[in-house]
Amino acid sequence: MKKYQQLAERIAHQIELGVWHPGDRLPSIREQTGHSGMSFMTVTHAYQLLESRGLITARPQSGYYVSPPASATTPGVPASLVHQENVDINSYIFDVLQASSRPGVVPFGSAFPDPRLFPLAQLNRSLAHVARNTSAVSMTENLPPGHRALRQAIARRYAQHGLTISPDEIVITTGALEALNLSLQAVTEPGDWVVVETPCFYGALQAIERLKLKMIAIPSSPHHGIDLAALEQALNNWPVKACWLMGNHQNPLGFTLPDERKQQIIALLAQHQVSLIEDDVYGELYQGNTRPAPFRAFDTGGITLHCASFSKSLVAGFRVGWVAAGRHARRIQQLQLMSTLSGSAPVQMALADYLTTRSYDTHLRRLRRVLAERKHKAWQILRQHLPENCVITRHDGGYFLWVSLPDGIDTRALNTAAIREQISLAPVSMFTVGQAGLNGFRVNASFPWQEREIQAVQTLARLLQQALSAAS
Ligand SMILES: Cc1ncc(COP(=O)(O)O)c(C=O)c1O
Repeated sequence: MKKYQQLAERIAHQIELGVWHPGDRLPSIREQTGHSGMSFMTVTHAYQLLESRGLITARPQSGYYVSPPASATTPGVPASLVHQENVDINSYIFDVLQASSRPGVVPFGSAFPDPRLFPLAQLNRSLAHVARNTSAVSMTENLPPGHRALRQAIARRYAQHGLTISPDEIVITTGALEALNLSLQAVTEPGDWVVVETPCFYGALQAIERLKLKMIAIPSSPHHGIDLAALEQALNNWPVKACWLMGNHQNPLGFTLPDERKQQIIALLAQHQVSLIEDDVYGELYQGNTRPAPFRAFDTGGITLHCASFSKSLVAGFRVGWVAAGRHARRIQQLQLMSTLSGSAPVQMALADYLTTRSYDTHLRRLRRVLAERKHKAWQILRQHLPENCVITRHDGGYFLWVSLPDGIDTRALNTAAIREQISLAPVSMFTVGQAGLNGFRVNASFPWQEREIQAVQTLARLLQQALSAAS
């Protein structure tokens, strides 16, 4: 953080703590120069930054005054750009996930693909092979950064997609969630500002809450993805440390950014020296001939920590993910040693065996085809049954559909009503803090769309009709 940003942060914190009240006159630039020992220019920049964030106001001939209490948004910043000092979403997410994982519930709200699509028999053969051939010593050889052969197999998959990544910068983690959490922790300190999209994967919001970070949420639309102008404005106005984004098959909206947009974002982040935590868990689930490039492919400055896992494409329950962390690999290993130590050795070895001796690509081709078929069917069924003003967005790849709803509908209440009918949803409130800017819910389309699913959609249509009548 530059000196003027440090001073601005210090004064912002003082305002937050009530050292300065709304309407108070701050020390003049000259007085502040004397107190802080910083130059006139540094103090001027700090005051300008605070002014651009709406925390203080300049009065001609008089000085700088603390602004009235901040609302969710800041003058000079688009109304839709939410900044949040305290993120508090964990207990809500926990309750929704608990309710939707009860046996018998139709899992439209689930984030996992239908587990019956995974090659369990082949994975079991690899597990059995490892169990027969593993020495006691190899059980302890897999502390961070993780099993060598698995890191090599992952590096080879990167190479297959045209990316040169050394096995030495890959750290194996317990799912992508650990990779993402450790990555964010590695590049921030408590109190730092982090940029996310809104709506975004709730894991990002939970990590921000857990690590006591502050959040700026940039609106993303179901069609075009993140608002680049708003991102630029945020980077110009806040001392942002990290940005957590998905470029491919974004959860929950489903869009994939074009390469050109990814390049622009990387250039912008590099210019502001902001680390990018890239969440690419759905990257293998593309439709079409080629895998969409990750942000990491356009990063020449080493700012991207690329996080992914096998949870969505091969097997969810093994809980194996990784981060290609570049220069942060060592720090991430240290953090891992302090928390989970490492993932399970036999499971890592079984995955390495699967990737080197069985055909992951054959499995992926089938998986992609089935997911595309099921998503198309789900889209047809939803279109047929849901009220007309529910707009269903689908993109190539992944297995989520986004249903946009008119503003007046309370998706939390809709979700509660759906759970009573044994149907889970993933409402927008799971993916946002503060104002969402858009309304709706995500549907997991990876399941076979048979009688049970069709009936669930009909029930949902009835609940939506009731909600629409109540809202009008
Ligand atoms: C966007 C996104 N990132 C990360 C994760 C976590 O992945 P894993 O199960 O590998 O920890 C999920 C799981 O739902 C997800 O949807």
